[in-house]
Amino acid sequence: MIEIKDVYLHYNNLDMNAYLEALQNISLTIARGERCVIIGPSGCGKSSLLYLLAGLFKPTRGKITINGQQVTGPREEVALILQDHGLFPWKTVLENAELGLMIRNIPRVERRRKVLGILDSLGIKEHAGKYPAQISGGQRQRVAITRALAQEPEILLMDEPFSALDALTREQLQNLLLNLWKERLLTLVLVTHNIEEAVFLGDRIIILSPQPGKILKIIANKGSGLVSYRQSREFYDQCSYIRSVLEGETL
Ligand SMILES: Nc1ncnc2c1ncn2[C@@H]1O[C@H](COP(=O)(O)OP(=O)(O)O)[C@@H](O)[C@H]1O
Ligand SMILES: [Mg+2]
Repeated sequence: MIEIKDVYLHYNNLDMNAYLEALQNISLTIARGERCVIIGPSGCGKSSLLYLLAGLFKPTRGKITINGQQVTGPREEVALILQDHGLFPWKTVLENAELGLMIRNIPRVERRRKVLGILDSLGIKEHAGKYPAQISGGQRQRVAITRALAQEPEILLMDEPFSALDALTREQLQNLLLNLWKERLLTLVLVTHNIEEAVFLGDRIIILSPQPGKILKIIANKGSGLVSYRQSREFYDQCSYIRSVLEGETL
């Protein structure tokens, strides 16, 4: 479904007359319905890779295709949830959640119906009239998820979606995400620097090296996505293994 082929990304730092190599030689195929988690140290190019998939940047070299078509800009079937939720503080929960549909000129009545339905299913409909500052971090993330789902995407890209949350809220939202993935037959590409999150959610885990980001290892992660997995021996072993791969490169 998603094909990344020999992708390089350079940023031009014109003021310094230099360029920064953010991603190097990334090749990866992601199948429909997969939960692909990308993990790596801060600054290794995780967000950059998601922006490329979202069509916000173009690769310096190489090619990305989605559903057989080269990515040249944002696509309707791809939704991106930004690292800091991307909510506007001066808009209400409902207005924030509607934003994607508004940009697409979906009529107000239809927009409302759809968004209120999703807010309801995510348990935050009663907060529809509040502003982001009046709700909790977990609720804000649910608003961002609502905005993305309203678009009815096939592919959901998430940039460290739960990193600012306390442990319990994070686990609740991870479970919620798994339910949504199942219900809506999503293909998930999630970026994180949290090892436990990667191991719990990813049926495949892609480990990136420090900048410039290269693929260090791809790990098939059987057992992921089940609540019982969190407590299992295999879970801890897999976390230790990934930690050792990450540390081996960073030390
Ligand atoms: N717009 C930009 N211009 C120049 N350099 C950038 C830009 N965005 C990110 N970088 C650099 O590219 C590298 C990768 O950044 P990023 O993709 O944000 O990493 P991550 O999300 O893994 O922390 C970092 O060294 C960062 O400083
Ligand atoms: Mg980032």
